[in-house]
Amino acid sequence: MKIRKAVITAAGWGTRFLPATKSQPKEMLPLVDKPIIQYVIEEAVDSGIEHIIMVTALGKHAMENHFDRSFELEDVLKRKGDDKRLEEVQRISDIARICYVRQKEQLGLGHAVSMAKDLVGNEPFALFLPDDLIASEVPAMRQMIGVYDRYESSVIAVEPVPSEKTSAYGIINPKQIEERVFQVMDLIEKPSPEKAPSNLGIVGRYILMPDIFDMFDNVAPGAIGEIQLTDALRVLLKHQVIYAYQFEGIRYDTGEPLGFLKASIEYALKRPDLGPAFKQYLQQLDITD
Ligand code: UTP
Repeated sequence: MKIRKAVITAAGWGTRFLPATKSQPKEMLPLVDKPIIQYVIEEAVDSGIEHIIMVTALGKHAMENHFDRSFELEDVLKRKGDDKRLEEVQRISDIARICYVRQKEQLGLGHAVSMAKDLVGNEPFALFLPDDLIASEVPAMRQMIGVYDRYESSVIAVEPVPSEKTSAYGIINPKQIEERVFQVMDLIEKPSPEKAPSNLGIVGRYILMPDIFDMFDNVAPGAIGEIQLTDALRVLLKHQVIYAYQFEGIRYDTGEPLGFLKASIEYALKRPDLGPAFKQYLQQLDITD
């Protein structure tokens, strides 16, 4: 079955980015001049996805406004004769079919995904965690859909992580079945380096069979009352095969300031209109000590 729908979970508080996120969604922070959420939706669209389901929360209206029409702004740009920006503003509002569902209490990623159950229905879907941006020649989700098309079961994105950092990720116990593709034998949430079964950490791209929605009912909330996706995946693993795919590309964790800064610099350097001048500026900074 074709992957037509994407769920994007964007209801978290973003506490690692306070105070910037006190009154605005972290997903609207710009990399150069484009909000993070737009890069993510472009990846979904470039991967052939037609319908986006965004899980949002109180205070996240800026995202809905960003993808809506703004007739006043279009009128201003028309009167200025700024056709290029007008075209871009109109393109954003036509980018995809997007609908929004609210997560009323922030009870964890698993709980956020379960909010999309009725809108997804009984079909496999893509899941994007918008903190993770992946720069790649072929969109990361399109690469994953290629794996899904061959195995027709859930696929989760993984990347090798430094062994001292395993406690920041869900880590898989992998059985390699082809280049970059693994069967997931088990998954462990945030293990210490000694307990980690591999160095393959889960990152924010998944293709999930709709059966995942029933698994949330069998997951006990964790210490702070959150329902975790990893726990639901472990239950799913008892019933179905899950695959992991080591994508080609570079991932940035834009949900925390250092990752966001790295992404900002690298995306700016790649921009033909800004990159050369920005590079020159960086080169003349005295950052040797
Ligand atoms: P994070 O663990 O990054 O949490 O969530 P967060 O609240 O966004 O950020 P910090 O840790 O406080 O800085 C991972 C993903 O799950 C979503 C987030 O929006 C992010 O995409 N999420 C998390 C929800 O949608 N709802 C939740 O209740 C929790």
